[in-house]
Amino acid sequence: MIDAYQASSQARVNAALERLFVAPSPQLARLYEAMRYSVMNGGKRVRPLLAYAACQALGCPPEHANGAACAVELIHAYSLVHDDLPAMDDDDLRRGQPTTHKAFDEACAILAGDGLQSLAFSALLDTHMSTLDAQTRLQMVSDLALAAGPAGMVGGQAIDLGSVGIKLDQNALEYMHRHKTGALIEASVQLGALASGRAQPSDLQALKVYARAIGLAFQVQDDILDVEGDTATLGKQSGADAARDKPTYPSLMGLNAAKAYALELRDQAIDALRPFDAAAEPLRELARYIVERRH
Ligand code: IPE
Ligand code: IPE
Ligand code: MG
Ligand code: MG
Ligand code: MG
Repeated sequence: MIDAYQASSQARVNAALERLFVAPSPQLARLYEAMRYSVMNGGKRVRPLLAYAACQALGCPPEHANGAACAVELIHAYSLVHDDLPAMDDDDLRRGQPTTHKAFDEACAILAGDGLQSLAFSALLDTHMSTLDAQTRLQMVSDLALAAGPAGMVGGQAIDLGSVGIKLDQNALEYMHRHKTGALIEASVQLGALASGRAQPSDLQALKVYARAIGLAFQVQDDILDVEGDTATLGKQSGADAARDKPTYPSLMGLNAAKAYALELRDQAIDALRPFDAAAEPLRELARYIVERRH
């Protein structure tokens, strides 16, 4: 079921994203090409899937979350472009292709990332993507800004870069993961729920508990795959964390304990969905997928 769900959701978000990369003038062709390259190069689209699934859990058609889905994927793509830069993780391979700074150049990659970040907020406000009232849109912009910014993903990345070669304890590692990866995953679920136009505070609260658990589980699994996966399947260099002496869950607690922890987080997430009926099945499937995925 998750395969078909993933394929149809990917097609939906890809069609909406594709429209964003039309250069307004020939002088900007290279910049737009670099942004397009950074987004339309595969990618599992987990964050858009979560936005769609949250919208559906509240009984609303997934198309209503198109703006939210594009916005979270654009922020994610920008974060990857910058994460791969020589000053950060210095990676050459992403989604099975040269990283943006390798395919273009560093300055172009920095600007493409900057541009994608701005496009994310434009997507949330694009009236073609949704017809939500101004207050709901404002809430979505506010949630995304908080999740992407220095108190969220950017803060997590700063901690990550400051932790190379340092042995973090579990609390510190969890804090880093919740920021660098968890925050945007939480926002994906919240924005998708808000896009339904019918989210009650109790719905948002239950979904927050769900998203907090899978947000952490996602990065724990990413750390596990860096140890267990091979470069061809991952589409990015395996073993990169150990090579750079990054603090990770497998390095902190061992591979088996990290796997057990990911499963525990999956169960916590599914448990948080108890108030929801069968419409939340895609969210439940995604929780399973996040810890079972091989790339
Ligand atoms: C990788 O994210 C970076 C992390 C935040 C762990 P994904 O595993 O979602 O990467 P893509 O989008 O599928 O390439
Ligand atoms: C990246 O974490 C998190 C963000 C980009 C915000 P990683 O550095 O572990 O991601 P990969 O492994 O390069 O995809
Ligand atoms: Mg990194
Ligand atoms: Mg990286
Ligand atoms: Mg990683």
